[in-house]
Amino acid sequence: MLKKITTAAAAVMLAALTACGSGDTASSGTTADDGKITMGFAQVGAESGWRTANTKSIQESAEAAGIELKFSDAQQKQENQIKAIRSYIQQKVDVIAFSPVVETGWDTVLLEAKRANIPVILTDRAVDSEDTSLYKTFLGSDFVEEGKKAGEWLKANAGSAVNVVELQGTTGAAPAIDRKEGFEKAIAGTPLKIVASQTGDFTRSGGKQVMEAFLKSVPQIDVVYAHNDDMGLGAIEAIKAAGKVPGKDIKIITVDAVKDGMTALAAGEINFIVECSPLLGDQLMDLAKKVLKGEEVPARVVTEETTFTPEQAKAALPTRKY
Ligand code: AHR
Repeated sequence: MLKKITTAAAAVMLAALTACGSGDTASSGTTADDGKITMGFAQVGAESGWRTANTKSIQESAEAAGIELKFSDAQQKQENQIKAIRSYIQQKVDVIAFSPVVETGWDTVLLEAKRANIPVILTDRAVDSEDTSLYKTFLGSDFVEEGKKAGEWLKANAGSAVNVVELQGTTGAAPAIDRKEGFEKAIAGTPLKIVASQTGDFTRSGGKQVMEAFLKSVPQIDVVYAHNDDMGLGAIEAIKAAGKVPGKDIKIITVDAVKDGMTALAAGEINFIVECSPLLGDQLMDLAKKVLKGEEVPARVVTEETTFTPEQAKAALPTRKY
């Protein structure tokens, strides 16, 4: 397509693409040959309803924006994500986006992308790296804030509840670390305490398994704080199987607000959900275009989110997109 536009315009575009690090446009076989932006996206996996909605959003938005998407599913393994990113570098894509399965261990591969002049956009989750020049921007939620919202709600609605069990997300993942931190800060100095905490890996089966174990080993459970809806839904199954009533005998707070979670909230089986929006696709494609044009982008783009009570869930469900 570049060959069809005017020479002057092509020169400007090429200069902009090269200046902002889009790779060797002359030999990439992507931008130079067809004028299309190619994005390599390394997804975490398909561990939750949130992730499925996020993948759909990215695929649909790429198509709508005319961006060619190379997509890989790392099945929640960091080594798979690193392999995918290396393969995108080899293929000389124009831009790489990824949602890091864990926070640490990215510097080497991100440096390889930087040396290949391929800009990287962090999507959904952050990396724990001192060198912020390794990526252009980070688009996603404020997970500490989400944890705080969960804790604040509990503080105001605890009644006689004291003992909280926590179902953590994937060990080492930004949302697991930050949601824990925010929640703990919010309940500090109150009678509420986390009496047991374990990872359920953000999956429904993981949440169920861990909750089954908690129900056997923890004498009094008043509240479940699950770092996502799926683990909360797994916990509901375990609670019912133990002859207790979820939402009544044991209060449940989750994060995400996907349809299954919202349905359980509307039915009173979950008591409160903190929203985490997976609909990042449009913003991601917009940021990618700006980065490739050499435009300034903010270092951090925070997703707008809300919270839901059962009544609010009932009202929101008919038009809920995910
Ligand atoms: O990073 C976002 C988290 O990852 C979502 O809350 C969870 O459901 C997903 O697996």
